[in-house]
Amino acid sequence: MKVSMFPPPTVTSVRLLVLAVQLVLLVCGSQASDDTKRCKLFSESPAERKVLSLLEPLTNKTFSEVKTSGKDSYTYQFQVCGDAGKTVGAGLVQIEHNEEKSETVLGLYTATRAIGGSDWVMLIYSNGTKYDTHCSKEMRKAIVMISCNRGVEMGKLEVVLEERERETDCFYLFELDSSAVCPALPSQLSAGSIILIIGFVLLSVYLICGFLYQRLIVGAKGLQQFPNYVFWTQVGNLAADGCNFVCRTQGPEEEPPTYRGVSTEPEEQPEERDDHLLPM
Ligand SMILES: *[C@@H]1O[C@H](CO)[C@@H](O)[C@H](O)[C@H]1NC(C)=O
Ligand SMILES: *[C@@H]1O[C@H](CO)[C@@H](O)[C@H](O)[C@H]1NC(C)=O
Repeated sequence: MKVSMFPPPTVTSVRLLVLAVQLVLLVCGSQASDDTKRCKLFSESPAERKVLSLLEPLTNKTFSEVKTSGKDSYTYQFQVCGDAGKTVGAGLVQIEHNEEKSETVLGLYTATRAIGGSDWVMLIYSNGTKYDTHCSKEMRKAIVMISCNRGVEMGKLEVVLEERERETDCFYLFELDSSAVCPALPSQLSAGSIILIIGFVLLSVYLICGFLYQRLIVGAKGLQQFPNYVFWTQVGNLAADGCNFVCRTQGPEEEPPTYRGVSTEPEEQPEERDDHLLPM
């Protein structure tokens, strides 16, 4: 008995509201990508994965920098979790400016380590090409220091140094500025979501206060306890009519157009006759 008393326009409005909320959630939640998953960590850990996922906006881009030292000139190319040169798996390569354009792998993204602080991430690629004579002929290693800079989304790659005059643990050091590693600002809510939240708060305050007023002061019962009940049922009806008009191309209630034309004509004719009479 109670269920059948619930008016259909209210059900329609609730359905529309649910649809709108679903739409908003869909738009907000569809920006996830996981290109950093291509990086293989030396030892898998959720914390390190989280640091790595900060670099998601920097994926699919090759950073390059030309560096000349003495008579040798090299191009360094870097990608976050992607092939920087011709070698598959190489995230950082050094290309010599000679005939063959010979490529030296400085580090593989399949042997990654990622260390993060409040506004920086240190990305370490290991297992590069072995040194010929230096560093006990160990495998090359590249360290990329990515620092927060809110002004640039993807900065320029800078070659800092190559440390190879030692027995072990040699490395190439690079720097890069990016807003991707910056700490989140206190309020990251967009204007749209703030308006939405204010709207929901106002709506609930209105419903609760109206309900209490109707129940305690007016002494209403049942559905009449809804604030401005009559007004909202009318709005609901109008909304349902509007939806009917927009969404339905054909309906059982549609009147044949000729009927309407005939019925309105007699009303208009007396007015026309009046117009002719006025100037005389
Ligand atoms: C990056 O490239 C990969 C492979 O080419 C592709 O699957 C992915 O959608 C790209 N991601 C972005 C954010 O462009
Ligand atoms: C990297 O080198 C280490 C030590 O030589 C080795 O254990 C590991 O399997 C290598 N990883 C890759 C991805 O080549």
